[in-house]
Formats: sequence, structure tokens, C-alpha cells
Amino acid sequence: PSKKGEDFIILRKHVGGGKKAQPNPPKIHEGWWAYKEVVQGSFVPVPSFWGLVNSAWNLCSVGKRQSPVNIETSHMIFDPFLQPIRLNTGGRKVGGTMYNTGRHVSLRLDKEHLVNISGGPMTYSHRLEEIRLHFGSEDGQGSEHLLNGQAFSGEVQLIHYNHELYTNYTEAAKSPNGLVVVSIFMKIAETSNSFLNRMLNRDTITRITYKNDAYLLTTLNIEEIYPETSSFITYDGSMTIPPCFETATWILMNKPVYLTRMQMHSLRLLSQNQPSQIFLSMSDNVRPVQPLNNRCIRTNINFSVQGKDCPNNRGPQWEMKRVVSSRGE
Ligand SMILES: *[C@@H]1O[C@H](CO)[C@@H](O)[C@H](O)[C@H]1NC(C)=O
Ligand SMILES: *[C@@H]1O[C@H](CO)[C@@H](O)[C@H](O)[C@H]1NC(C)=O
Ligand SMILES: *[C@@H]1O[C@H](CO)[C@@H](O)[C@H](O)[C@H]1NC(C)=O
Repeated sequence: PSKKGEDFIILRKHVGGGKKAQPNPPKIHEGWWAYKEVVQGSFVPVPSFWGLVNSAWNLCSVGKRQSPVNIETSHMIFDPFLQPIRLNTGGRKVGGTMYNTGRHVSLRLDKEHLVNISGGPMTYSHRLEEIRLHFGSEDGQGSEHLLNGQAFSGEVQLIHYNHELYTNYTEAAKSPNGLVVVSIFMKIAETSNSFLNRMLNRDTITRITYKNDAYLLTTLNIEEIYPETSSFITYDGSMTIPPCFETATWILMNKPVYLTRMQMHSLRLLSQNQPSQIFLSMSDNVRPVQPLNNRCIRTNINFSVQGKDCPNNRGPQWEMKRVVSSRGE
């Protein structure tokens, strides 16, 4: 009778009418989604179905400003009004817990350790909630965002919520100006980023091989995860997991961070499942890119390429026109 019944009808319609009903109909709950087909067991919705199986997630299908997206650098607009990003750690190192959630490697800071960012495209200060890793089964895939059609081997996402307007992450995630995600591409190299090394050295990463494993880390310096650049790209988008709320401002740093081949290998050896279940690599935990539609991609990189006006530019419109025409229009 409830909404759940409706959802299930939608699901059946799209999954294929010919099949007979499963003996145990899948449960609709907030964790009922996956990135790829599950080898064993019952149907779990993959990204193209997220928006169809649960009416609370319909933005995943019908949203017009979804993430991730492919960034075409030739379509970026230089926005001279973008401030530098300011990271506020209070000068302290922080502790946190690293989890295998079955879908991501996730690091959450201890409650008493507050790290926030402001500046850039932000009007408010945003507090770090979670650091999440996406990565591929092969080197040429694994990032959610693409740059000129190319994927990187992985993507670090620092998920922040607006703590000036909202009391917690849950509240912010469904509200306007709720989230800011800083995204940093991962690339394989001989040496590794020191923060990534704290998470991904053999001794540490092997503690969270299975789903729900957790491991405590101390004296982390959040500053170290940032690559050495103040250049970034920003656009308005959504969460990349259900319910795909369109409340996230994305900030893509203009340089990757590096990890070693060995560390990447260790990531691929993480299981989506618990030890009693079949091993299923967590890799390729990526939502495919979504249409950009008419969104603007702004950057603080001053490059001389022509661009159209950006309606979401914060500066006065005439300034933007001046910059555009100085590029030779
Ligand atoms: C951007 O670059 C152009 C050309 O180098 C320069 O004239 C202009 O002052 C720069 N704008 C800003 C805001 O830095
Ligand atoms: C940001 O976090 C620090 C603690 O690291 C805190 O002292 C400061 O008040 C926060 N800034 C804002 C604007 O809330
Ligand atoms: C978040 O804040 C809302 C509103 O203040 C509250 O109702 C809810 O219980 C909080 N959720 C969590 C997970 O703390």
C-alpha cells in the first residue's frame, strides 16, 4: 500500500516483465544499491537503476545537475572573483577511523577534531565529514570525474557540510548550499603522497580488507592530502551516491596526488564483502558521468580561452563580459 509498493512496481517494470517474481523480493532501504552487477545472489540496482528503484532517489534519474561530469577544459570559464581556498585545521593534527564500507574506503575524523574550509566558490564555512576513495581495477579508470574524457586511476573526495547553516551532515545533504566536495585525482607514481601513505601503507590498508572493518589512525595532517596548487575547477552538482541530492558544490583541484603501484594493488585487494562471503573487489566503485546540461564550469586559472557568460558567476556581469572580450571577442 505504501510508497515501497510503488517503488517495487517500477523496479519490476524496468527489470524485465518476462521473469517470474523472485522468491525473496529485494528490500528497499537506503543501502540497497551497488556500482556493478553482483556475482552471486539477488538483484541489486546499479547506477542506471538507482533513480528507478526508490522514489526518494529519483533525482539520480531525472536530476538536471548531477555528478560526476566530464570536464572539458575548453569549456571552462575563468572567474576572476573566485577566492583562494582556505583550509582551517586550527593548526592541529587529527585522528580518525578508516572504514571499509563495502563500497568505499572511508575516513572519518574524531568528533572533537574539526577541520573546515572556506573561500573558493564558498559563501560559508564547511566542515570535513568524510574522506572517500574511488579507484579502478585498471590504471586508466577509477576516478568519477573525467578530464577531457579521460579518467584517472582514482579520486579522493573530501566531503564537507555547511556547518554555519546546518547542524549535521544529514541535514545539510538535503538542503541548499549543503555540501562542498573537494575532489583530487589519484595517479600512480614512484612515490606517494604522505597522507595517502598513512592510509594505504600495507600495514594499515590490510586491516580493512573486509566490509565493516575499521582501523584507527592518529596524528593525521589534513593539509598533506592537498596537492601543491591553488588552482581549481568548480561547478554545481550532486552527491554521486543515492539519493543524489543536488546540494553539492564541487571543487576539483588542478593537480593530482600520487600513490604507488603497490598501494593501488592493495586497494584492489579490498573486498566489498565480509570474510565469510565470496571475495569481490571494491575497485571500479564509480558512478558514470552525467550530462552537464547548461551548467557552467568555472576556474580560477587565468588562461586565454574564449568563453560564454556564466550565469552563476558571483561577480558583476559586466566584469565577466570585459574579461571575455579581452580574450578577443
Ligand atoms: C588574466 O590574464 C590576462 C592576460 O595575461 C591579464 O591581462 C589579466 O589581468 C589577468 N586577470 C586577472 C584577474 O588576473
Ligand atoms: C573552523 O574550525 C576551527 C577548528 O579547527 C574552529 O576553531 C573555527 O571556528 C572554524 N571556523 C568557522 C568559521 O566556523
Ligand atoms: C541531524 O540534525 C537533525 C536536526 O537538527 C536531527 O533531527 C537529527 O537527528 C540529526 N542527525 C544526526 C545523525 O545526528
